[in-house]
Amino acid sequence: MESRDLEGKVALVTGAAQGLGFGIARELAQRGSKVLVTDLQLIKAKEECRNLQDRGMNVVAMHLDVTESGKVTDFFLGLERLDILVNNAGVGQKVSSISDLPDSEWHRVLDATLTSCFYCCRAAAKVMEKQETGVIVNVSSINGQNPAALVGAYNAAKSGVISLTRTLALELAPYNVRVNAVCPGPVYTDFNKSNMAQRCETLGITEEEMIERVRSAIPLGRWGEPEDIARGVAFLCSPDAGWITGEIMRVSGGMEGVAATPPKRSRE
Ligand SMILES: NC(=O)c1ccc[n+]([C@@H]2O[C@H](COP(=O)([O-])OP(=O)(O)OC[C@H]3O[C@@H](n4cnc5c(N)ncnc54)[C@H](O)[C@@H]3O)[C@@H](O)[C@H]2O)c1
Repeated sequence: MESRDLEGKVALVTGAAQGLGFGIARELAQRGSKVLVTDLQLIKAKEECRNLQDRGMNVVAMHLDVTESGKVTDFFLGLERLDILVNNAGVGQKVSSISDLPDSEWHRVLDATLTSCFYCCRAAAKVMEKQETGVIVNVSSINGQNPAALVGAYNAAKSGVISLTRTLALELAPYNVRVNAVCPGPVYTDFNKSNMAQRCETLGITEEEMIERVRSAIPLGRWGEPEDIARGVAFLCSPDAGWITGEIMRVSGGMEGVAATPPKRSRE
């Protein structure tokens, strides 16, 4: 039987028009939350929300660019209540060694993946401190704990998300607000497809070979699905996790990180 352990809660998920964010929004809605499905892609978010509304779920699509500090602050100030925030929005990095990484790519990734999380956490903290209740779940990555080669900016951003989570958990504990992070392993979303395509090129292997290589490195022997990550997030949001805060939870089929040393680059 479906659990309704989030009945009556108001949740906001960032970057929720597709991929993991959409899976998380659907899971929270299935469990009884009203969910604000926010993203840069408003048309797509609206289409996806219509499908969920047709199935009786209480979801609302809204535009929110998490890199815009002032707009994020105003958006949260406009909320009457917020029980759950899931900071999911983030961008992948163009595959590159640190020695070749341009400033622009570093800042693009850090802005959209770490600073954005800070903006949303700060704004939500004000609402939740006043309510003296709430839950925040930040989406980090296994790369945040075990960095993979050639995505140094992304690794740094996701490590930063972990640090932000643990700091905020201490600061919000007196207000009965819990803050945790999940570290997903590989799920074949648009984000991952683009990263894989670049790595296939670097390694000179096909997409199928890469998919199999990753699969065989996952102890549970299969790629993740958005539902796998969504259930982990929903657990941390639920009353069952009522004494869990400052926790960093891998949802990765047992995978701890991607360990591959890239070949030496030719310098001409
Ligand atoms: N897919 C994986 O294997 C994987 C593994 C570990 C961590 N993650 C993390 O999970 C999260 C979701 O990844 P995904 O795979 O679903 O990616 P995705 O690219 O499929 O979806 C990301 C969503 O975020 C939105 N977004 C991007 N920038 C935004 C901004 N500035 N403001 C608002 N929305 C914005 C996009 O429009 C998109 O809808 C990311 O933080 C990613 O780093 C993914």
